[in-house]
Amino acid sequence: MKNNRKVKVLLIGAAFAGDLHMTGYDRCRDIAEVVAICDKDQSKIEALANAYGLEDYAAYTDYKEAVKEVDCDVVDICLPNFLHHEVAVAALQAGHHVIIEKPLATKLEYGEHILEEAKKAGKRVYYAEDWIFAPALMRAKELIDEGSIGDVMYIRARECHSGSHSPFAQTIEYCGGGSFIHLGTHPLAYVLALKENRWTELVAMTSGGGESNMIHKTMEGEDWAACILKFEDGTAALVEANYVTVGGMEDIIDFYGTEGRIQVDLTMSSPVKCFSIPGVSYSVEKAEITTGWSRPAVDEKYNLGYVSEIRHFMECILEDKDAMVGLRGIDGLEALRVMNLAYESAREGKKIVNDRL
Ligand SMILES: NC(=O)c1ccc[n+]([C@@H]2O[C@H](COP(=O)([O-])OP(=O)(O)OC[C@H]3O[C@@H](n4cnc5c(N)ncnc54)[C@H](O)[C@@H]3O)[C@@H](O)[C@H]2O)c1
Repeated sequence: MKNNRKVKVLLIGAAFAGDLHMTGYDRCRDIAEVVAICDKDQSKIEALANAYGLEDYAAYTDYKEAVKEVDCDVVDICLPNFLHHEVAVAALQAGHHVIIEKPLATKLEYGEHILEEAKKAGKRVYYAEDWIFAPALMRAKELIDEGSIGDVMYIRARECHSGSHSPFAQTIEYCGGGSFIHLGTHPLAYVLALKENRWTELVAMTSGGGESNMIHKTMEGEDWAACILKFEDGTAALVEANYVTVGGMEDIIDFYGTEGRIQVDLTMSSPVKCFSIPGVSYSVEKAEITTGWSRPAVDEKYNLGYVSEIRHFMECILEDKDAMVGLRGIDGLEALRVMNLAYESAREGKKIVNDRL
């Protein structure tokens, strides 16, 4: 690493995802420094900075000013989906690398435009898919690679909960879709990364959105979606995402091999088991109640991969290199392309063949 230099970060968006990333920066102060935070709501900037004991930083409420004025290496975009495109383009044109939360953008052409602007500017796009660095999934991968379950034939991966807290998740214009783009992006990008994007065909089905939804009738996007993919090596995968799952966020990944199977439960498998009559302050994301038996998460942001993901990006920037497979701009773009094709498959009831292999 060069001269003990620290990566200078401008963080834009100081709410939920901003906090996830701040935990990452807080734990890699040896190589990174958040020099500025931008959010249109000044009180959120202050709350985030206070929560992490940040004193020496600049605060901005206008992202256009921030990307022009802040002397930084990378702009980390933790904004609602519909803003990823315009803010990434502004940051790249101002000469910064960008980290972009999922999904890369709300529309495929916006995602393509982000990558074009990065190429023009000679800057990199880092795609923040935290599952790649979830320690339990990394351990599962080690077990698979050592041959402990034979050849993996089938992967079933899902992220489901009872509905997004964000008002921006309610319309297609702001979100890009429904539960599939908002939640399904994790299991989808994860299986695509495992197979280096070499998918051959897919079929998908969704609840359709609005009145056709199972529960969320006022939500424009779908509240249930499933997509089956086949890969070049013959592996099949079922990716599922829905907003009809009560009881806390469900992130379960199953690997079926010729000589065994592995199940990873990212959210409900805490080693802590608690029975509480008054309830605990927090057990797991989206849990409606915490009384009775619960499994309070332990170091959730580390175990879901956010901490190691941020360190990886900082190391890549210092070494002037692209992120690993699954975390590059092109991986974010491929995930977005596949999501769009899955929506097309569901809408038109047809199988889609990958014409880019
Ligand atoms: N990787 C994950 O697990 C994960 C989890 C949650 C959210 N996300 C992603 O992170 C992104 C942000 O999600 P969130 O839940 O934090 O969103 P949010 O809607 O809760 O908050 C976004 C923040 O952006 C600010 N903002 C909105 N418009 C702005 C503007 N024009 N200029 C400056 N600030 C503005 C808001 O004030 C708010 O503080 C989304 O793309 C979401 O998909 C990822």
